[in-house]
Amino acid sequence: MESVRNHIPDRQVYIVTDDNIYGLYRTSFPDFPVYVLKAGEKSKTLDSAADICKWLMEHGAGRDAFLLGIGGGMVCDITGFTASIFMRGIGFGFAATSLLAQVDASIGGKNGVNLEGFKNMMGTFNQPHFVLCDTFMLQTLPEAELQNGLAEVVKHTLISDKKMFMWIRENIHKILQLDNELINRLVSHSITTKSEIVSRDEVEHGERRKLNLGHTWGHAVEKTDGIPHGQAVSIGLAFAARLSEHKGILTREERLLILDLLTSLGLPVITRTDPAKVFQALVKDKKRESGHIHYVLMNGLGDVSVERIPLDELKQFALSKAH
Ligand SMILES: NC(=O)c1ccc[n+]([C@@H]2O[C@H](COP(=O)([O-])OP(=O)(O)OC[C@H]3O[C@@H](n4cnc5c(N)ncnc54)[C@H](O)[C@@H]3O)[C@@H](O)[C@H]2O)c1
Ligand SMILES: [Zn+2]
Repeated sequence: MESVRNHIPDRQVYIVTDDNIYGLYRTSFPDFPVYVLKAGEKSKTLDSAADICKWLMEHGAGRDAFLLGIGGGMVCDITGFTASIFMRGIGFGFAATSLLAQVDASIGGKNGVNLEGFKNMMGTFNQPHFVLCDTFMLQTLPEAELQNGLAEVVKHTLISDKKMFMWIRENIHKILQLDNELINRLVSHSITTKSEIVSRDEVEHGERRKLNLGHTWGHAVEKTDGIPHGQAVSIGLAFAARLSEHKGILTREERLLILDLLTSLGLPVITRTDPAKVFQALVKDKKRESGHIHYVLMNGLGDVSVERIPLDELKQFALSKAH
């Protein structure tokens, strides 16, 4: 947090945060006006963005104002969105405080707010001026939130780096104890993976789809099981592994290694809901009932490909004993 001061531009700075972070870290905040949101996904709305805009106006903020989001993915998303629309766009940066924000939400230039309970229905692509990740702040992160981030970390290794996948396996104990040296390595690795993919395909026409690994089934499970995102992604990764094995591109041993790692991290690998219901939710989420969907499959550890799969085939697999 101390280094934030070295990165903020020499102009009017306004901070957006949530009440958890404000309670824990306000004494380390740089000395600028602070807008405190209530913590939680419910605050990620257009109304909150409008309230922040009004607050900026009240403070006389102009086009050269700079918005600094200090918080998890919720704060980063709303900060990036508000900065993108206030006076047609002002500069912004993040101090990402949750593991999920550090390895995922703060990277890639997507931002947005939810609408009528639908996630990220409004938003823009716009890159922050900087992202700072202080891994020491993860010490205060609740365990469930840590798991949310770890599921995305495993996803990144499965997309591009078998060695890193194995390294996590070997160091699982220290990682769960938040050994700072190891966590720093994990976070750096994830940032590199995601930013490399995003830099090749900023607006998601092809390569960026790889980042959806585990998320097609995962999003559906998140709805049906009402569980946190990371747990749902873990179940989605396990499903993608089973499907890839079924298609003959992932070996049984590789699939077992994946399930074993997720389980050792305390993440679930199977849905509590009838798979038929999950499939229904998936179809609703994708807003189509027939045809094909893009699915990210694993060709071994650390290598994925995006394939068009007929929905019928996916349904058959989801409802079969193989799953
Ligand atoms: N823009 C993107 O590309 C992208 C990618 C993934 C996720 N997201 C978004 O990110 C959000 C989820 O992010 P999240 O999991 O960080 O949620 P969050 O910001 O709601 O944070 C989760 C909880 O952890 C608390 N917290 C954060 N840092 C803490 C710390 N250091 N110590 C103690 N408590 C701390 C928060 O106050 C909150 O209660 C969702 O809105 C999701 O849509 C965006
Ligand atoms: Zn995710």
